[in-house]
Amino acid sequence: MLAIEVDGLKKRYGDLQAVDGISFSVNKGEVFSLLGPNGAGKTTTIEILEGLREKDHGAAKVLGLDPWTSGYELHKMIGVIPQGFKFLDYPTPREAVVYYATLFRAKVDPDELLKRVILDEAANIWFQNLSGGQKQKLGMALSLVNDPQVVFLDEPTTGLDPQARRAVWEVIRKLKAEGRTVMLTTHYLEEAEELADRVAIMDHGRIVALGTVADIESKFGSGQRMTVRAKDDLLRYLKDNTRLEVKGDGRAVTVFLRDKADAMVAMGAIEESGAEWDDLTVRRDRLEDVFLRLVGESGTEEKGSD
Ligand SMILES: Nc1ncnc2c1ncn2[C@@H]1O[C@H](COP(=O)(O)OP(=O)(O)O)[C@@H](O)[C@H]1O
Ligand SMILES: [Mg+2]
Repeated sequence: MLAIEVDGLKKRYGDLQAVDGISFSVNKGEVFSLLGPNGAGKTTTIEILEGLREKDHGAAKVLGLDPWTSGYELHKMIGVIPQGFKFLDYPTPREAVVYYATLFRAKVDPDELLKRVILDEAANIWFQNLSGGQKQKLGMALSLVNDPQVVFLDEPTTGLDPQARRAVWEVIRKLKAEGRTVMLTTHYLEEAEELADRVAIMDHGRIVALGTVADIESKFGSGQRMTVRAKDDLLRYLKDNTRLEVKGDGRAVTVFLRDKADAMVAMGAIEESGAEWDDLTVRRDRLEDVFLRLVGESGTEEKGSD
């Protein structure tokens, strides 16, 4: 059963096509990540799904409902943490949860809910005095007040230190373990790798790759590559004496392997060359290699589009 269905979705701001005809679906119980650089169109997409922005073209459904026309009904079933979540300075997490529960007319035990997001130790500290990670966890607690089936998290760990990031990840894993569907946007590759069942890499309003991390790595990655630490004399030897695809930078020589036979040829030729070498590694493209290839320069540019 599908929790989210998007087909040919488009959204334009003036001359800028922020979302340019994207299609994907998210299964119930899945953690799905939109991964992309700043300005890719992630927030626009997620806000259309939350019913906060109107689409221009295409179809978007969450739990079978059109988010724009059935917003009221939908909001009872979804949880949302906006990008850069903030709250009033003085309420404590416990007070904030009670306040939200009252708004949603939801029966929740605030202490139990704060425990679920690992914030019970800070239940009585003013919001303004919470750490960045604790603030995000409060955002999660508030998004869970109505016991949502689908939770939208827009860059939940941006700006957090690695330890706080891991604490937020732990809560996201719990959401999945509880059977909820999680739609997560991030520009951190390792976050998508750690958490997502499937990933859509988004760039300039389009989805450039979609699938599990392993699918994406094998579809868009190069084959295995063997690298040894060696000078260019080895590079020249391999070029002159084999048909292997090789490159070198004076410190290391990399051989691109098409199959196992290439690996054996490479090993043999390295040995025969008499060149000095050490530190042999063989590895496949990881998500990061693929991401940089697909998204290229824009992946490292800061556009400040929040
Ligand atoms: N309300 C808006 N008006 C005009 N341009 C916008 C608006 N919101 C976003 N944009 C632009 O649309 C593009 C996509 O933005 P956004 O969806 O926030 O991307 P992301 O969340 O991936 O960083 C960016 O170039 C951004 O500057
Ligand atoms: Mg964003």
